[in-house]
Amino acid sequence: MIAFKHIHMTLAFITIIGFLVRSVWLFKQSPMLNKKWVKITPHVIDTLLLTSGIVLLATWYGGVVTSWLAIKLVMIVLYIVFGIVAFKTQSAAIRGTSFTLAIISFATILYLARIKPALW
Ligand code: HEM
Repeated sequence: MIAFKHIHMTLAFITIIGFLVRSVWLFKQSPMLNKKWVKITPHVIDTLLLTSGIVLLATWYGGVVTSWLAIKLVMIVLYIVFGIVAFKTQSAAIRGTSFTLAIISFATILYLARIKPALW
């Protein structure tokens, strides 16, 4: 199952690189964002990332959601929501704020996954 964890971590790495590349295109208002593969690929990667996380949860943790994992799941939802807002809004101010909050959420996810603090 250690292989699964590495797959999960690799997918986490690929997803943030992809998010950053798309964010550069977003702020440059690049037509790249309209390409079909640019729209579809992130969903494929994110689905695999979430699925591998669920497999880890089921196999390693017997489905028991520890405290850091619970907060991590909340932060994943926030990361997704801020990401959607950043890419959908017409307002530059909201775009910048949402992008920043998405990055902070992702950093928190990595911190929680890595350090696994016992929060309660
Ligand atoms: C944006 C989404 C996600 C990111 C960036 C992410 C990131 C990571 C990273 C970097 C690790 C390795 C931590 C280490 O060094 O030990 C990890 C482990 C793990 N993740 Fe995720 N993850 C995500 C989604 C999920 C989801 C949705 C679940 C469960 C439903 C999940 C469950 C787990 C579990 C159980 C581990 C193993 C922890 C251990 O080593 O004991 N992850 N995650």
